[in-house]
Amino acid sequence: MENIIVKNVKLIQLSQIKDGSDGILSVAQESKEIPFHIKRFFYIYNLKNKNAVRGKHAHRKVEQVLFCINGSFEILVDDGKFKQSIILSEPNTGIFLGTYVWNIMRNFSDNCIILVVASDIYDENEYIRDYSQFLKETI
Ligand code: TYD
Repeated sequence: MENIIVKNVKLIQLSQIKDGSDGILSVAQESKEIPFHIKRFFYIYNLKNKNAVRGKHAHRKVEQVLFCINGSFEILVDDGKFKQSIILSEPNTGIFLGTYVWNIMRNFSDNCIILVVASDIYDENEYIRDYSQFLKETI
């Protein structure tokens, strides 16, 4: 697995319970593979626009784990000091994004579906959507 140098980011590997020709089951539980209590999930799909770019923000409070449960995409993570590009393409690999991680998602495959589990309910006030503000609060 790729070595992550960006602060508050890590890859999470889920086990695969293989059922021969009847498919594979991967499972994650809060406080185990997911390092927080899960209060919300959402998913992103219909990413047919080749130039789609999502994210472009950081969170002050909410922690998240993203899984690419179908297809693939690229996520750029940035802690204000180090930046890294990671491709998520395996349904059993997640990426944990802690607080104060600027992220940009792009290069989505047509069939990409991203499942996100989050540590808290949606609150626009805990987002940082301006990069210079992010740097101000981070460093
Ligand atoms: P945003 O978090 O910016 O999406 P992404 O990081 O994938 O680019 O959210 C997009 C829109 O959806 C924005 O108007 C806020 C809204 N939204 C909610 O209402 N509830 C939620 O839980 C989330 C994640 C977003």
